[in-house]
Amino acid sequence: MFFNKFPHRANYTFASAYDGTSGVLAVGNRRLTAEVTEFGEGITNLHIHGKGLRPKRHLAHLTPPPVSAKRRTKVKGAFDATLGGVLKTVAGAGFGMCADAYLFQFDVEDGALFYGMGEKTFNRLELSGLRSKFYNTDVWSDFHFTQWLDHPSDPPYLSIPYLVVREGDRYVGILLNTAWPAFMETPGMDEERVFVEWQRTSPHLTIGAMGGEVDLWIIEGPTLAEVTRKYQQLVGTTPLPPAWALGYHQSRWEYAGEADLLDLDAKFAEHRIPCDGLWLDIGYMDGFRVFTTDREQFPTGVETVAKKLKRNRRKLVPILDPGIKREEGFAVYDEGLQQDVFCLSPEGRPYVGMVWPGETVFADFTLPKPRRWWSDHVKQFGLSGFDAAWIDMNDPSTGPVDPTDMLFNKGREPHFMHRNEYALGMQMATYDGFRRARPTKRPFLLSRSGSVGTARYSAIWTGDNVANYFYLRSSIPTTLNLSLSGVPFNGPDMGGFGGEPTDQLMTDWFKAGFLFPFFRNHSVKESRRREPWTFEGATFGTLRRYIQLRYKFLPYLYNLFMDQETQGDPILRPLIYHYDEARFAKLDDQFLVGDAIMQAPLVNEERTREVEFPKGSWYDARRGDWERHASTRVTPDHAETPLYFRNGAIVPTLPGMPTDNRKNLRRVEVHLFLDPEAPGHADYTYRADDGETFGYRKGKRSSLHIDVKWTSKAVTIVTHMPEEGYGEIHADFVIHGGLEHVSLNGEAHATEPVRVVLTGRPLTVRRVS
Ligand code: GLC
Repeated sequence: MFFNKFPHRANYTFASAYDGTSGVLAVGNRRLTAEVTEFGEGITNLHIHGKGLRPKRHLAHLTPPPVSAKRRTKVKGAFDATLGGVLKTVAGAGFGMCADAYLFQFDVEDGALFYGMGEKTFNRLELSGLRSKFYNTDVWSDFHFTQWLDHPSDPPYLSIPYLVVREGDRYVGILLNTAWPAFMETPGMDEERVFVEWQRTSPHLTIGAMGGEVDLWIIEGPTLAEVTRKYQQLVGTTPLPPAWALGYHQSRWEYAGEADLLDLDAKFAEHRIPCDGLWLDIGYMDGFRVFTTDREQFPTGVETVAKKLKRNRRKLVPILDPGIKREEGFAVYDEGLQQDVFCLSPEGRPYVGMVWPGETVFADFTLPKPRRWWSDHVKQFGLSGFDAAWIDMNDPSTGPVDPTDMLFNKGREPHFMHRNEYALGMQMATYDGFRRARPTKRPFLLSRSGSVGTARYSAIWTGDNVANYFYLRSSIPTTLNLSLSGVPFNGPDMGGFGGEPTDQLMTDWFKAGFLFPFFRNHSVKESRRREPWTFEGATFGTLRRYIQLRYKFLPYLYNLFMDQETQGDPILRPLIYHYDEARFAKLDDQFLVGDAIMQAPLVNEERTREVEFPKGSWYDARRGDWERHASTRVTPDHAETPLYFRNGAIVPTLPGMPTDNRKNLRRVEVHLFLDPEAPGHADYTYRADDGETFGYRKGKRSSLHIDVKWTSKAVTIVTHMPEEGYGEIHADFVIHGGLEHVSLNGEAHATEPVRVVLTGRPLTVRRVS
């Protein structure tokens, strides 16, 4: 299979007849069964199975709303009818098959808009007029460098065949729940890009896969937010991460052992830069053998180093690659062979690829026994001092070796049947290992590849990018579309993995990314070191400031993750998520962090840009003043970034400007952004817990409800604590925007002017005393 060629509908045979009573669907000579289940809440499933469609055996576990047996109806009438009353299939050519592959064609209105598609680097939020495959690749190995250096390469590491269609005044999410390679073609190609007729994409929306039973989900709703929440709950929300995972992470290929790590630890303290995670790339292993550590680098063992790092509350995050060195005498290999946990080749022997250790074999993560075997190793590893893992190369990368010889389920199932969920299986097994090593603690995993269901186990980073403005700019739509596709905990290597960032690019990246869900500075081997203090003067100061600001806003981010777990809202959102205006439909160099903060960073060489504002007033954190226009031009200086707060925003932060990674979530400084010219009412519930255990699920959590009313003259704040399981929450209030007279819980309170630095010059605001 080519992962970059596209099926043509003329080669497909389309369903010709459908018997609504028996559910039998005729496709050429095939007699299949088609069942529709309406789950209510606008969620519909279409399941097509039968001879010729390989039964599903995959790992993603969906959680639709409960449904009564009555709703499990067979498709009524002709198959070309609308599906679930929502999507119209193309008459006479709605569902087609070509050998094992199948596709759907849908009619969509002219001017329909498209979002999602999981991880894509197309450098745009809106996805009309594209052909794309869903096939997990190892980008730097699978494409020549000219194909990814400074423009989109497709497909990338992670595959989620999910698309959101905006038609008229509603949104429809379409998920093809499959681990087989999939494809999509969206209408609406930009005519200027058509220079040969066959380049034009089909006028219909096409969605299909290379094999397997059909498991198609349709999710409808009036807003993007509603569809996204329902979809996220269906595929699984992100369990609340440990608070440290939301801090700053320092990585590099390669930190060399104990001495290097202790030096980093000391330098972060000396420079008063908060940092939570120090990352270990492949060199920490003994000859790249997974689950080993190099004794020369760690003469007294990892546990000792991990213990030393604990003094400054830092965590050590090692890389784990799935490729297991094929070497007799290497215990992990010998044991795996003996327990028969490896993927097989068509010749019935363990499949061999070529990765860092040379010849490597691979656990079959699609089966429970190999997952348990891997999980046992992870458990031991966790007990030896590691708190988290970075699981890489799980596309799976097999180096120059053809992966299609890697078979699953004892050689019975072809590579394509499971390729796209190989990483998911590794995530499940690794998560399980950490859970068992420390049952009370929340595990943290970072994975390169993934699929539907990944969010339940792991964050992802968007793989090997390059230090240039293409990757900085495209990181915004990539992260936004991933967020809409059910993987909200994600982020790029800040600064760019490959190449050397200029000082300007490095600071631009930190300014754009400091509120991204995941914030890690990582770079390729042999590049210059990139710790903040390796940059000089103003650059160093700016990098440090944005790391400190990240920590300042950590309580706000952490609460967004709580909402993600319970409601399904992503952390980063495109403006259309909350403001359904045509002018925001394609806006992809601005984004919202939650619903209170909007960023419009500089993402190219230009030092000036336009910023678009939703209706209402927005507080400009650079100037300390209100912006009431629909758009404005800004020219920030080297230390500033355009950052805005919605009128009525209630934003919990750590007090002052954090200079280390301490996070007492029970003591917060709550910033209120209130426009005297636009009085109103707002409320917010701030929640705090221990930041590391599952205790919050058993009531070990406190919350503070904050109700704020403001007029053109005064502010009334009323607080109460609906939950007290984690003790008292102390909140100080800071008011931005000009108001000075405050009543707090029924008493008049004086306010005093204080200086606050957000992302510009120091602002004078009022602290409620
Ligand atoms: C892959 C990863 C990268 C890592 C390198 C060495 O390229 O994507 O992050 O540094 O392998 O392990």
